[in-house]
Amino acid sequence: MSRIKESQLVGIIGAKWGDEGKGKVSSNLVPQIDVGVGINGGRNAGHTAIVDGVEYKLHIAPGSVTNPDAQSLIGPGKIVHTDGAIEEINTLRYQGLRIDPDNFMISERAAFSGDYHQDWDKIMEERRGKGGIGTTLKGVGPAYTDRVQRIGIPIGLINHPDLFMEELDKALGDYRGRLHSGEDVPDSFRLDYYEPVLERARQQLSPFITNTTSILIAKINEGKRILFEASHGAMLDITYGDYPYVTSSGCVASAIAYGAGLGVIPNMEIIAVYKAYESKVGGGFFPTELLDRKGDLIREKGHEFGTTTRRPRRIGDFDGVASRHSANLSFPTKIAITRGDILTNIDGLKICNAYELNGQVVTEFPFHDILLRQCRPYYRREDYYDGWSEDFQGVTHYGDLSYNFQQYTIGLMEAIGRGELWMIGTGPEDKDAVVLSSIF
Ligand code: IMP
Ligand code: MG
Repeated sequence: MSRIKESQLVGIIGAKWGDEGKGKVSSNLVPQIDVGVGINGGRNAGHTAIVDGVEYKLHIAPGSVTNPDAQSLIGPGKIVHTDGAIEEINTLRYQGLRIDPDNFMISERAAFSGDYHQDWDKIMEERRGKGGIGTTLKGVGPAYTDRVQRIGIPIGLINHPDLFMEELDKALGDYRGRLHSGEDVPDSFRLDYYEPVLERARQQLSPFITNTTSILIAKINEGKRILFEASHGAMLDITYGDYPYVTSSGCVASAIAYGAGLGVIPNMEIIAVYKAYESKVGGGFFPTELLDRKGDLIREKGHEFGTTTRRPRRIGDFDGVASRHSANLSFPTKIAITRGDILTNIDGLKICNAYELNGQVVTEFPFHDILLRQCRPYYRREDYYDGWSEDFQGVTHYGDLSYNFQQYTIGLMEAIGRGELWMIGTGPEDKDAVVLSSIF
């Protein structure tokens, strides 16, 4: 057996609240890989890949689907809404991508998700009222909850229809029991709703369902180049994020192996993707949030509206406290900085390297939103940066970047505190980037 080379296994994670531009970073690597693996999330995740001018909206498929020679694996950590997956596969095929059982595989252990999860997500958000989490309402939290509550359904059971219906019947009974008296029973809480759903899934998804762990192990043994893609971002991690305003899966580097279908991944290169400013959708305190004209300008220039929900994203100054928290959790070897080009002609740039909490300067990210809410950004004179007006969109050489942007990037790297600067995104297309070293 060949020795596993360090550079063959690469993981990409979002370093903050999602939408850092992981899709763009992955698109840059996808032409060079043999296998791409999705590890967490479901329809809540939205990832845009722009390759040769064509825009692909991905929710459950990893970016590797845009490479016809690569295999794409949907790992056991993913949530598969069957009709959603069918629609996504059909759209991608319509856009010209080849998606066949020999290059696209779904783990039999990935979690089945149905409309009952989405309806329950809505009911829970309504019950939470104003202080709601602001979920994407795609049922992903409930589907993960079911797994932990041991009423979840592995997607592989669609190949055993009687068992599938038996398990689903139990789960739906549990859901009906959660309704308050007077609440209508949604159609999606009834078993017969799923007869056509199961039929469609059997016809269109069954060929893709397999033991992806065996395939992955074989690929690792063959010395293939494998890219592991995490969805969301570290600050949305179920344990380490801004709890409880988080998603329901692990999003830091340690979640990669588990969600991919392995206990551990040896010698993995970790690329953490940081956006040059912050954005966030959904609830939770956001210490560096910009509620002024500067925030509006960045939102408009950056088209910061959710891929999944179209919600306008909240915008903020770069948060060094959250950045360091995230880097300390994932030990990234490589850092990608994205969307610096959006900050061209934006004045008043600053990097928040500490919070003020009850009159004290703190540099650790609090463990609960209740504490975070009491924090205010704390700036020193050296945290302010001069802006720039040079347009460097599409630039591929470091020397062609604006000098002031280079200085700002150095400030970002100091704030992050770990990893080597590897890529600077300079525009939406996969080739719009300064790449400082090769990964493969
Ligand atoms: P859920 O994942 O739908 O349960 O939503 C929980 C929180 O995570 C909400 O604040 C969502 O807006 C946020 N969230 C989930 N997935 C993403 C993502 O891919 N990008 C950005 N925010 C996300
Ligand atoms: Mg997204």
